[in-house]
Amino acid sequence: MAPPLAAVSLTSPLFSPSSSRPLRRRHAPPPSVSFQTRGRSPAAAPAESSGSPLLEVRGLTASVKETGQQILAGVDLTIREGEIHAIMGKNGSGKSTLTKVLVGHPHYEVTGGTILFKGQDLVDMEPEDRSLAGLFMSFQAPIEIPGVSNFDFLLMAVNARREKSGLPALGPLEFYSVVSPKVDALKMDPKFLDRNVNEGFSGGERKRNEILQLSVIGADLALLDEIDSGLDVDALEDVANAVNGLLTPQNSVMMITHYQRLLDLIKPSYVHIMENGKIIKTGDSSIATQINEGGFKSIALV
Ligand SMILES: Nc1ncnc2c1ncn2[C@@H]1O[C@H](COP(=O)(O)OP(=O)(O)OP(=O)(O)O)[C@@H](O)[C@H]1O
Ligand SMILES: [Mg+2]
Repeated sequence: MAPPLAAVSLTSPLFSPSSSRPLRRRHAPPPSVSFQTRGRSPAAAPAESSGSPLLEVRGLTASVKETGQQILAGVDLTIREGEIHAIMGKNGSGKSTLTKVLVGHPHYEVTGGTILFKGQDLVDMEPEDRSLAGLFMSFQAPIEIPGVSNFDFLLMAVNARREKSGLPALGPLEFYSVVSPKVDALKMDPKFLDRNVNEGFSGGERKRNEILQLSVIGADLALLDEIDSGLDVDALEDVANAVNGLLTPQNSVMMITHYQRLLDLIKPSYVHIMENGKIIKTGDSSIATQINEGGFKSIALV
């Protein structure tokens, strides 16, 4: 079934002028990030982090709109410019819900707390406006958009952003020269541009396509939900290279993953652990190593 337009708009990677800035590899994880413990604000920025806050989430609670079931139970998270944050946690701990609430997914209702994005209150903003403000989400299970070609979808998204910035719309030919090198960089067959968005795409192809959207449209903050799931080893490397190539000192990534292998390719500044709708621990990539070796039980009591 075709998704409602509002849902479609959620997939629009927001592009931002920053996407055309020169690219530079992000800083390595700060060595002295201390572990956060339950009950403390997990996202207090360490002294060495100098970027401005992009996303500030405080005491965020959210429920499923239809049933009122609470999923997020008080999330605190700060993401500054130039940082890469990884979110890990058991199945059902609320990771995807957090990203969906951040982009304004219509299935969820914010019941408490605040979300600031570049100082703007996100909670009452429409999903489209969040997207235009520079927030991008790649879905754990990317949706199909029947009847809309990948090329047209990307062109529409790029031109919406250009319009907002007062720039003239790009024509198809002009846009092709923009999108083509990105398709090549992701080692995608250019034929994917003519296919309807995600229709008939394999799981791995959908993931690659999400990153194509991100690389064409750009974002100040990209929320990547399990971009590594379903990718073969080579595809994972291509996708990670593409994400790394988009990083600038001004933009940031929040990536959800279950696996350390992604964090070996895209080095996080911070790793957060979610449990029961909250971030219960924050630290550096050594947390991921610990989980990899001993499971979540190995960190639960630390
Ligand atoms: N729309 C919804 N309706 C009912 N329950 C929901 C809804 N959205 C989320 N949930 C429930 O909230 C909990 C958190 O779901 P979420 O998808 O955020 O988990 P997750 O941490 O991303 O898990 P995974 O690692 O398996 O992807 C789950 O128990 C899920 O069933
Ligand atoms: Mg999930």
